[in-house]
Amino acid sequence: MPLKITWYGHAAFGLDVDGVKLLVDPFLNDNPAAVVKADAVDADFILISHGHGDHVGDAVAIAERTGALVISTYEIASWFANKGIETHAQHIGGGFHHPFGYLKLTQALHGSMLPDGSYGGNPAGFLLTTSGNEKLYLACDTGLFGDMRLIGEEGIDLAALPIGDNFTMGPDDALRAVKLLEPKHVIPVHYNTWELIEQDPHAWAEQVKKETSTIPHVLQPGESFQLETS
Ligand code: NI
Ligand code: MN
Repeated sequence: MPLKITWYGHAAFGLDVDGVKLLVDPFLNDNPAAVVKADAVDADFILISHGHGDHVGDAVAIAERTGALVISTYEIASWFANKGIETHAQHIGGGFHHPFGYLKLTQALHGSMLPDGSYGGNPAGFLLTTSGNEKLYLACDTGLFGDMRLIGEEGIDLAALPIGDNFTMGPDDALRAVKLLEPKHVIPVHYNTWELIEQDPHAWAEQVKKETSTIPHVLQPGESFQLETS
């Protein structure tokens, strides 16, 4: 089963799972790294990891235009529902069978206040198991935590990890995260959007290659990676 992931820059992704289109944390119009605008993306589902502006991004406008279902924690889903948007609320540790696969929310060590100051509950990451049994882990904004080992026990095909430092894991902790998760493939994200989170993703990728058996993929904004499993 084909799983294609497109990195739009920062922490924004497009996923194509068997033709079902997902957007994750669609921060596009004000994202200096993004090469697409919010009115140019398509979505059946929008996943929001936490309430910060660089993740909620253009989700309201995209959901209104496309009619996409917003999936997030209860607190964030309620914030979208109050704007008349269709939502599905889950919470950390809980999974649900959506048309694109089984999506579980994972813990993340971070904050989650919404752009208007509303309470956003706890931040989350995403663990997706597709119907073809591909396993995708989006850590989203988080510091390193030891229970990444438990997530890794599920057998991760592809992980996306923040390496920007300051707000999330930096390169050293992200390397330790790779060692805990042991994914087959890894994509670094949440770096070089602003000066504050400037990093060298190629140097990081070299360390991953040297110290682990995971294959790193440094994408340019707008570039895709196709996961090939049996
Ligand atoms: Ni954040
Ligand atoms: Mn962020």
